[in-house]
Amino acid sequence: MTEQPSTAARFPKRLDWPLVGLLAALLLLTGACSWVGWNWDTPMTTVNPKSDFGRTTHAIFMLISWWALGIFIAVEGALIYACWRFRERPGAPIPKQVHGHTALEISWTIAFAVILLIIAIPTIRAIFKTQEAPAATALRVDVYGKQWWWEFEYPQHKITTANELHLPAGQTVAFFLNTPDVIHSFWIPQLGGKRDVVPHRVNLITLTPEAPGEYPGQCAEYCGMSHANMRFRVIVHEPAEFEKWVKAQQAPPVESADVLAQQGKTLFAQSRCVGCHSITGISASRIGPDLTHFASRKTFAGSLMTSTPDNLTKWIENPEHMKPGALMPTLGLKGEQSKALAAYLLSLK
Ligand code: CUA
Repeated sequence: MTEQPSTAARFPKRLDWPLVGLLAALLLLTGACSWVGWNWDTPMTTVNPKSDFGRTTHAIFMLISWWALGIFIAVEGALIYACWRFRERPGAPIPKQVHGHTALEISWTIAFAVILLIIAIPTIRAIFKTQEAPAATALRVDVYGKQWWWEFEYPQHKITTANELHLPAGQTVAFFLNTPDVIHSFWIPQLGGKRDVVPHRVNLITLTPEAPGEYPGQCAEYCGMSHANMRFRVIVHEPAEFEKWVKAQQAPPVESADVLAQQGKTLFAQSRCVGCHSITGISASRIGPDLTHFASRKTFAGSLMTSTPDNLTKWIENPEHMKPGALMPTLGLKGEQSKALAAYLLSLK
């Protein structure tokens, strides 16, 4: 029988500090460390909430994080202590072997049940609070999640828009979440969500945005080919600015007298566009986004592209290429035709 090497021989005597340094650097690098949430470079952050809903969710997140940190320190501390206290030493006897400890097991079962209760109570309260029936003074927005873009209807103002949601700061908003196709999820990281948008059912979110600004939103439930491209922009205004926006949206579209734009208008009215899109005075279909005030929006196609003549021309010519799975068909419009159509749409302020 060969002799067991001593403990000292099996473990290195000293730490390999360059290796430890390298591993620590690698950890920071792969963790992509930054001051997330304190930095405006991270607009999808949830740790810089700008609404009552956002702050409630963040408070629960912090509560869970602190409990998790406390438990981590206690468990790892006990583990490290046990490793050190009962380490193998030359000539030391085998420590006393313990199997089960009823009192200890009952007490930690109770302790963890209590911790779960501490987490569950505010979580359940938040779930009910953020979907309670809105007050009569709340702004109602009917949200329609569609493959793969968002429609926003303001029934009190008789306005419909797409992919860009305008809200007044300081007023409670009630979002009624609908979808005609598959399950989506409505999420504005800094304001609130996520909440599923389910066919044949209306889910509700009530929240009050606190500060004017621009906040990105994103579909948060896999819903097919362009799920990742199902984005939206939320623009929170001062109340007076919001009223101005409402007035502008209620007005008929202001179009350009430019020859190219007028050619585009004729083309729009004569083509298959009218089967899906509405423009006040020309067509009234709700299959695709309402284009009445297309040029008042900075982005299009699920907020995927900025509204430039170049992007729009490419989109009209080949939607599938710009956004995989796009349900807008290729209309066969080319060259001057697609340019004219783009010029017309970009004139609709
Ligand atoms: Cu809609 Cu993902």
